[in-house]
Amino acid sequence: MFSFAYAEQSQKYFQKLTTNNKTIIILGSSRSDGDTRAVAGFLLKNSAAAMIDLNDYNIGYFDYGNKNADDDFIPLMRKIIPRYERIIFATPVYWYSMSAVMKTFFDRISDLLKWEKDLGRELRGKAMAVVSCSGSDDLIDGFDMPFRESADYLGMEYLGHAHTWVKEGKISEKGKQRMMELFK
Ligand SMILES: Cc1cc2nc3c(=O)[nH]c(=O)nc-3n(C[C@H](O)[C@H](O)[C@H](O)COP(=O)(O)O)c2cc1C
Repeated sequence: MFSFAYAEQSQKYFQKLTTNNKTIIILGSSRSDGDTRAVAGFLLKNSAAAMIDLNDYNIGYFDYGNKNADDDFIPLMRKIIPRYERIIFATPVYWYSMSAVMKTFFDRISDLLKWEKDLGRELRGKAMAVVSCSGSDDLIDGFDMPFRESADYLGMEYLGHAHTWVKEGKISEKGKQRMMELFK
């Protein structure tokens, strides 16, 4: 639990996430109650952001023949894209990279370039940010490159990346500070 004072301070710092309820956190971890969820929970508690957990959706690998047309990806995007202006991707660091759950989601953004172009075009001008989580503060350089480049390719503004880590269930203070800096 965070003290009231801390929540107040955070709200001041998380201004980007408190104005007009237009921020959504997309959580992509192999566990829905793990460290990355805890970090996303910190943001949720101190802002007006919404969150979805990719584990709650059936999203298959990208398929060149569009065989996934009937899974949850497109209906989910139809809900998210028109409603939100800022998307925060929250991912654990698995093997120096984003999680497979998150990467599978990212690959499916190709659907928006091939078969749902109008929806894909709506991403232009929206903003993207990344929050990563691991067990320590030793993230390799370039971790956020796929996000940054994807934002550029999609015509989205890239707000940046904050790395966090969780030890014995506690989010590192430095990680919290980074998120506050990113979203102030
Ligand atoms: C498959 C797997 C790969 C991992 N690879 C890394 C890694 O490359 N670097 C690292 O610092 N931590 C790595 N970790 C540790 C996780 O990043 C860390 O435990 C994180 O807090 C887990 O978040 P979660 O509870 O949301 O899964 C790995 C963990 C798993 C399960």
